[in-house]
Amino acid sequence: MPITIKDEAGIAAMREACRLAAEVLDSLTPHIQPGITTLEIDRLAAQAMAAQGTRSATIGYQPPGYPPYPAHLCTSVNQVVCHGIPADKPLKKGDIVNVDVTVITPDGWYGDTSRMFEIGDCSIAARRLCALTYQAMWLGIDQVRPGARLGDIGHAIQKFVEGQGLSVVREFCGHGIGQNFHEEPQVLHYGRPGTGVELEPGMIFTVEPMVNIGRRDIKEMPDGWTIVTKDRSLSAQWEHTVLVTPTGYEVLTLSAGAPAIPDFVQGVAHAAA
Ligand code: MF3
Ligand code: CO
Ligand code: CO
Repeated sequence: MPITIKDEAGIAAMREACRLAAEVLDSLTPHIQPGITTLEIDRLAAQAMAAQGTRSATIGYQPPGYPPYPAHLCTSVNQVVCHGIPADKPLKKGDIVNVDVTVITPDGWYGDTSRMFEIGDCSIAARRLCALTYQAMWLGIDQVRPGARLGDIGHAIQKFVEGQGLSVVREFCGHGIGQNFHEEPQVLHYGRPGTGVELEPGMIFTVEPMVNIGRRDIKEMPDGWTIVTKDRSLSAQWEHTVLVTPTGYEVLTLSAGAPAIPDFVQGVAHAAA
């Protein structure tokens, strides 16, 4: 399948889908505290989506070779890199957790975004990992403009992350998104500048780097979904869905509860008026 270029109606539909995904995260935020289980977070998300009139893109999701994904969102705790399945285990002080929400609107458009949450007081290393991964995502996003290439995004992320002594997971990447959950192109979080697909207005894709404190190697758990760091070091991830505009980009998954945008970011001035 080729890369889809969204027209004005598609862009409007994606603004809505992505805002709704971000608002699910906003509604979960006050509840993500020591003692809550990730399964309880999943139930709250199911309720929030029902209240919006959206549905979860993840429940029952079954790419070739995978079992159906069993939950409304992903909750990836500590050494879990991504695709953590909600469980009946309370979060405790010092944990870090990524909550990844993908909704489908009634007219079939997908919005995909994730954030890190620090449970109580976390170690300096954990806080640094979350903060630097957030910066890495935005450094990648800030490369987006017509004429730039996907390799520019990957390179910006990889150079920064590795310069901080952290590592970038290579087996999973960002992705085009629209009327499908995962479309072309693949958005790698590493790469060489000036290489790869050239960006054009109307493209919409996610930027979602996974960053480890230790080595980049990963391992899949027997449940067929959960990905952990091979060395059991902490891993963090943030995700936004981004539109290429004629002059730069617009981050579609912003909402009132999204953390502050880093000071180095200029391009977000191109966001919707
Ligand atoms: N939301 C994830 C992404 O960013 C995909 C999760 S697929 C699931 O692409 F089945 F694990 F939920
Ligand atoms: Co995604
Ligand atoms: Co996601």
